[in-house]
Amino acid sequence: QTSQVGQLINLHQTAAKLYHHILVSTPAGGAALHYLQKRGMSRQLIDEFNLGFAPDGDEEVLLEYCQQQKLDYQLLRKSGLFVTDRAGNLHDRFHGRVMYPLDGSNGQVIGFSGRILASKGNDHEPKYLNSPETELFNKRQSLFNLHRAKKAARTAGKIILFEGFMDVISAFGAGVANGVASMGTSLTDEQVQIIQRFCNEVVVCYDGDDAGQNAIDRAIKLIAQDAPKLTIRVVQLPAGLDPDEYVQQKGAQSFQQYLEGHVETPVEFQLHYLRRGLNLHQQDELIGYLNAVLRIIAGVSSAVEQNVYLKELADEFGLTVASLQDQVKQIGQTLP
Ligand code: UTP
Ligand code: MN
Ligand code: MN
Ligand code: MN
Ligand code: MN
Repeated sequence: QTSQVGQLINLHQTAAKLYHHILVSTPAGGAALHYLQKRGMSRQLIDEFNLGFAPDGDEEVLLEYCQQQKLDYQLLRKSGLFVTDRAGNLHDRFHGRVMYPLDGSNGQVIGFSGRILASKGNDHEPKYLNSPETELFNKRQSLFNLHRAKKAARTAGKIILFEGFMDVISAFGAGVANGVASMGTSLTDEQVQIIQRFCNEVVVCYDGDDAGQNAIDRAIKLIAQDAPKLTIRVVQLPAGLDPDEYVQQKGAQSFQQYLEGHVETPVEFQLHYLRRGLNLHQQDELIGYLNAVLRIIAGVSSAVEQNVYLKELADEFGLTVASLQDQVKQIGQTLP
């Protein structure tokens, strides 16, 4: 007699196998396979990540399969893999979507995210549809690819945090095996605690758009608060590119070099981030900016590090380091 959790895991494993089979070996998966190939996804990566396809239309492939296997109605209901209509009948939750299995800590499938084949979502159809919260799947505690990334994270001493599934997969294909995804732009306390167990450095590498920048700002504040011992680094991608797009456009080697060569501390990130939309030729905007960044620099515990930032600012704005140091000291006296 398998426990309920065991049965739910078996059901998810079975579903993953079925969706994968449909993607790679049936005509119904043709369009999805073509879509992934067009995105530069190799067959090897499709197999490694066990990607699949849930067919479109009225077909209920998973439901039919489960009914053939005489699986219990309540088990199916609790799995999150189906939706229930008013009459209490089950229907496949996922239709016409590329399926990304979400792995639990031992690599067992605990949920799915499904992507539509169109480039964007709309009001009726989100781009990615995720499993609901179930006994197996808790979104706040889930990091995509953690299971595969653990070993590489221990070896490298760090984890790279991306936004999305395709970022992790493309990075993996480009030889960056220690990447995980927060699955969106809002990192949770639980995810930070999990990261902390595997390494002592986290590199935040979100999308090179406004949403990504704002998310980096929130993420580094959250990590600093929840896990003060974790070293935080930021890699900002060129404007308009996410990690997956970077790999596809510029190649694996360039991506690896970029990750090595564009590492910033959280303070360096703030120095750039706080400039967005400002015209620093305007004196009042410049003063406002300097006040904001000097407050941040005042919070840096190392005097040597403080001076590196102050020198940079002094050089750029034609000020003396001494005058900036004075102000940092003044701010320091007002800090708790
Ligand atoms: P993005 O909008 O950056 O998507 O959201 P993406 O990863 O670049 O996806 P592609 O390249 O268009 O396929 C980042 C992540 O946020 C989550 C997903 O985990 C996605 O990978 N997300 C996004 C959702 O869960 N639902 C959505 O509707 C959109
Ligand atoms: Mn249906
Ligand atoms: Mn994004
Ligand atoms: Mn993206
Ligand atoms: Mn993308």
